[in-house]
Amino acid sequence: MKAVRLHETAGPASLRVDDVPRPEPGPGQVVVDIACAAFNRRDVYITQGLYPNIELPRTLGSDGAGAVAAIGEGVTSIAVGTPVVIDPQIGWTEGGFHTGRGASILGMPLDGTFAEAVVVPAENCYQRPAALSDAEAAALPLAGLTAYRAVFTRGRITKDDVVLITGVGGGVQTFALLYARHAGARTIVTSRSDEKLERAKSLGAGVAINARTSAAWHKEVRAASDGGPTLVIDSTGGDVLAKCLEVARPGARVVVYGGTLGDATIRPYSIFWKQLDVLGTSMGSPADFREMLALFETGLRPVVDRIYPLEACREAAERLLAAEQFGKVVLAIR
Ligand SMILES: NC(=O)c1ccc[n+]([C@@H]2O[C@H](COP(=O)([O-])OP(=O)(O)OC[C@H]3O[C@@H](n4cnc5c(N)ncnc54)[C@H](OP(=O)(O)O)[C@@H]3O)[C@@H](O)[C@H]2O)c1
Repeated sequence: MKAVRLHETAGPASLRVDDVPRPEPGPGQVVVDIACAAFNRRDVYITQGLYPNIELPRTLGSDGAGAVAAIGEGVTSIAVGTPVVIDPQIGWTEGGFHTGRGASILGMPLDGTFAEAVVVPAENCYQRPAALSDAEAAALPLAGLTAYRAVFTRGRITKDDVVLITGVGGGVQTFALLYARHAGARTIVTSRSDEKLERAKSLGAGVAINARTSAAWHKEVRAASDGGPTLVIDSTGGDVLAKCLEVARPGARVVVYGGTLGDATIRPYSIFWKQLDVLGTSMGSPADFREMLALFETGLRPVVDRIYPLEACREAAERLLAAEQFGKVVLAIR
């Protein structure tokens, strides 16, 4: 079968479409024929070698949707032919927090979804939301889950919140915007691109601020929010996170799930004087995944930026590297 494998860590150009043996399901596992997969920033980081314990060659991809093609010994929870979406996190058993022990993820260190088929534990397969296309379903797993936990489980959003979402063009952040709107909260978004801000407004963003052209974007956030946002969702990190802490309203929750710009120098004063709750989050539990999928049974649809054929995997990765996308970049596998 065809699979997009990484052979060296020199960026997206290191991706190759290879012919590899089709996987077989072991006990408790299923093989899913992938219809569509989707990119996350982590796939691009991995092509650049910016990830621990990289083993080569490896099939990349954490996100995928398709149909169950074969089931292993002892699997009774799911039948061949079921349309599914895959939770890429292996080994986060039920429970509030991930210990990291015994855990793994598709697309490094495990072979991932950028292939015609992938083998996964049966419990990682969930019935695909009926209203979604394969491309939309493939857009959900890692980003939809991370945003779900950030906004709902950790962020505890209510309709009375004023939510700041930084770098709104990102895969996770577009989900955060969808969820915040779904919860009925007011939203303020930033991006370095006017085009992305327009897209965000069309999804219901209340205030849209260009963080490239306005050095004092955080002051605009404060002015637009009667004294600062009550909930911040950030993965940009660096100086952006520092400004988020500066602008957050007293008592606000600041949820952090990434650091695209790297480390931040922050003012402890902002945190203690305003009594902020700074909340870390990463991906999500099986319960978060189920609740996230349920949202997409209610009419919500993920934002798909572009769909590339498998053979154009390098161009797709380059689009993320250049941060040109708004929403999820999808690979059509079959
Ligand atoms: N902890 C977890 O479980 C988890 C899960 C998923 C992602 N993450 C992390 O969260 C971050 C976003 O992930 P993603 O998959 O949503 O990524 P993505 O689709 O590539 O989005 C990244 C966004 O960051 C913003 N950004 C601001 N300054 C940037 C810069 N100088 N260079 C590049 N982007 C910049 C961009 O927003 P604008 O273009 O709109 O300005 C961009 O859309 C990454 O750091 C990723 O590693 C963590």
